Amino acid sequence: MTASGAQAPSPFRPGLEGVPATQSSICDIDGQRGVLTYRGFRVDELAAQSTFLETAYLLIWGELPTAEELREFEQEVQMHRRVSFRIRDMMKCFPSGGHPMDALQSSAASLGLFYSRRALDNPEYIVSAVVRLIAKIPTMVAAFQLIRKGQDPIQPRDDLAYASNFLYMLTEREPDPLAARIFDACLILHAEHSLNASTFSARVTASTLTDPYAVVASAVGTLAGPLHGGANEDVLEMLESIGSEDQVEPWLDRAIAEKRKIMGFGHREYKVKDPRAVILQKLAEQLFDAFGHDPMYDLARKLEAVAAERLGPKGIYPNVDFYSGLVYRKLGIPEDLFTPIFAIARTAGWLAHWKEQLGANRIYRPSQIYTGPAGRDWQPIGAR
Ligand code: ACO
Repeated sequence: MTASGAQAPSPFRPGLEGVPATQSSICDIDGQRGVLTYRGFRVDELAAQSTFLETAYLLIWGELPTAEELREFEQEVQMHRRVSFRIRDMMKCFPSGGHPMDALQSSAASLGLFYSRRALDNPEYIVSAVVRLIAKIPTMVAAFQLIRKGQDPIQPRDDLAYASNFLYMLTEREPDPLAARIFDACLILHAEHSLNASTFSARVTASTLTDPYAVVASAVGTLAGPLHGGANEDVLEMLESIGSEDQVEPWLDRAIAEKRKIMGFGHREYKVKDPRAVILQKLAEQLFDAFGHDPMYDLARKLEAVAAERLGPKGIYPNVDFYSGLVYRKLGIPEDLFTPIFAIARTAGWLAHWKEQLGANRIYRPSQIYTGPAGRDWQPIGAR
């Protein structure tokens, strides 16, 4: 309060740093100790013990499912994996050179045309929207991958679990069980991360009481940027451009001198190494042990070591995007699908936040500090 009793204006915080914009019981980040929990469970434990669908259930409904609840959820998701031929035909009209994140944003939004009955106060509608989005987003990512190569999309296979089925739809080959298990763990690690940019975008969209397909489509658009999900794609490009381990030090020194951001490093919340990067690094090593080494991993580790000396004192360490690309590359996934895969996983978190937002909704409408001119006189066009 000011001396006159009026409400003091809040200080302006660019990027809303440190400004709580919601209350949430979904996910907690301890950025000093590097601990991430979903609904109170440590993410490292979930990545080791759970499956993506079980974790999605936990995030969205708040509790771990019983065996019966999980079976039912898995069956529902399996039943809704197919997408309408109209959506597949629409995707065939997308330019094959377009980015798969743009294709995903458009196709996610198009689901609203097919399931447009908006009944946000009906629990059955909520369940069906959750199931449809979790089920269909991977099918649409895989479909665009084949369509842009001039091939017909592959139908999902009912005998395959969520992660295996996605890899199958992408490659037309049933994946190795270890590869599928590691991919599923990657989905768990990317499923949720509190009020990051795309989740904030999802909550803002949700707060207008629009439909859940629009909520996910707006979040996909936000995730696509290189400062957020898009960084995983840029990490490999960066490592390729460094070229060899002996180039790491001069490259990094140059990048720091030119004030360039090192992709896959830094995080608003973490001042230590992102716990997801720690786990992803271990998963990458498991893959290399099983399927052969990738020399780019040695380069990445060297970059991490040198960056720890140069940027560690500022609290800048690898984030989730630093090692995920190396895992996906080993799985044979094209680089521009890394962010759509992130979106497949994060759909669980976005839906959890959508549901939570609906539970105590107030439309987001922050204020601003106006910095433009005032009291200007209109000039007729001929006098300007
Ligand atoms: N490389 C070099 N310096 C960095 C980096 C980085 N990756 N990240 C932050 N810094 C430095 C900044 O230059 C700045 O230094 P200064 O105070 O001397 O000017 C300081 O750290 C603070 O940086 P900000 O950009 O203000 O931090 P912010 O919290 O706004 O940004 C972000 C966080 C966007 C993740 C940033 O670290 C970044 O751009 N990283 C690279 C892109 C990336 O990997 N994004 C993925 C993030 S994880 C995710 O979204 C899934």
